[in-house]
Amino acid sequence: MILSEIKKKLSKNFLISGIETAELDARLILKEILSFDDKELIINENYHIPKGFIKEIFAIEKRRLKGEPISKIFKKRDFYKSTFIISNDVLDPRPETELIVEIANNFIKKNGVKNILDLGTGSGCILLSVLKENKMINGLGIDLSKEAINIAQKNSKKLQLDKQSNFLISNWMEAINFKFDIVVSNPPYIASKDIKKLSNNVKNFDPLLSLDGGEDGLNCYRAIVKDLKRVINKNAIIIIEIGYNQSKFVEEIFKKNDFKLIKKYNDINGLDRVLTFQ
Ligand SMILES: C[S@@+](CC[C@H](N)C(=O)[O-])C[C@H]1O[C@@H](n2cnc3c(N)ncnc32)[C@H](O)[C@@H]1O
Repeated sequence: MILSEIKKKLSKNFLISGIETAELDARLILKEILSFDDKELIINENYHIPKGFIKEIFAIEKRRLKGEPISKIFKKRDFYKSTFIISNDVLDPRPETELIVEIANNFIKKNGVKNILDLGTGSGCILLSVLKENKMINGLGIDLSKEAINIAQKNSKKLQLDKQSNFLISNWMEAINFKFDIVVSNPPYIASKDIKKLSNNVKNFDPLLSLDGGEDGLNCYRAIVKDLKRVINKNAIIIIEIGYNQSKFVEEIFKKNDFKLIKKYNDINGLDRVLTFQ
């Protein structure tokens, strides 16, 4: 079987089963198994794929057709400007979360910033992306999940950021006795009753701890804001991701705790996705 045939077959089968990213997924599988880059995939359309590789490709197709995301199959995912190691113990980093990195980078450019705290760091994707662009600052990532902290530490070594970063197992700020200039967070914000409505590739492959925001989806914002003042410096900024319909409620929770809304940022669908407070 030649490359173009197998690519067509994979795309078609993914499309039939309702996978929106059918063609992209087919390309990602072939690139990974054949160790090709995008250009090699195009110029080698007539390449006869060895039998061993064909077997591997179809084994992966089977997993993908059952709903497993490509990133979880290959245990890696591109986020901002780096590739992160991921596993079933961490949330698959989402493109909309890159907005937090951009906001933090802009704030750092304009203000004298020494350090940054990432609450619910997961794979470490937010914290490490900011540290990679800002070599003069240090960061701490915390997570309740020991397994997530393990993955974040692996990523910090892989990206050679282990001198700039530290990771701790902590229930939000409980284990923190230090003050920060920036606090970033993408906390779990799905209402418990809505978890079952999520697509299979999310609810079956992202950990429940990374999704479940309690009865109304807002429990983590309430928990975070309660202890936030203790861990921030005077002019610190809080950059926090929210669910598509939570802007008003999260704003209220923060206002009640004396935080001032600085700005709302939209995602590509025009929905409020990140709020900043001081
Ligand atoms: C939505 S995920 C975000 C992961 C990563 N920051 C990202 O954006 O891809 C939320 C993270 O919060 C962590 N988490 C949930 N409850 C927590 C708690 N009580 N204390 C600390 N971390 C918690 C989860 O384990 C998960 O890694």
